[in-house]
Amino acid sequence: MIAVYPGSFDPITNGHLDIIERVSKFADKLVVAVLNNSSKVPMFSVEERLAMLEETCAGMANIEFAVFSGLLVDFAKSISANAIIRGLRAVTDFEYEFQMALTNRSLCEDIETLFISTSTQHLYLSSSIVKEVAMLGGNVKPMVPNIVEGKLVKKIGKL
Ligand code: PNS
Repeated sequence: MIAVYPGSFDPITNGHLDIIERVSKFADKLVVAVLNNSSKVPMFSVEERLAMLEETCAGMANIEFAVFSGLLVDFAKSISANAIIRGLRAVTDFEYEFQMALTNRSLCEDIETLFISTSTQHLYLSSSIVKEVAMLGGNVKPMVPNIVEGKLVKKIGKL
């Protein structure tokens, strides 16, 4: 199975990393795909987000990284993916995720969306929360990979 794990990853959190580790155990190949979206203003450039992902996942087997824009299903087809991976934290994620999954299915019947639940210690995490805590001077060490913490501190120092 070739799986694509799409997202903004602005930045990667321990919740994302947990999903990547889980999927890498059963997928033949996992492509982590960073959305290059001009309508959302990210904290980190797409190059910075990709570099953090690559550094965090260095040495993990079966994983590739890519940047995509446009429709996710078009990108998924271009890499012959059979499945789209999305992490589910709480019920609050469900409505949006279900809408996306059904939209993607209506656009491409052949690609299934698989929902993976994060481990309980990461249930509350999101990139937005991590950025807010970091901006307000809180400790994000337990929330993000070490290299991301350093990059967040540096970035916020420059803002
Ligand atoms: O991490 P995010 O920001 O929740 O990821 C959202 C993402 C990238 C999966 C979603 O915005 C996406 O797939 N965008 C590409 C555009 C697209 O295909 N839209 C139609 C399906 S909703």
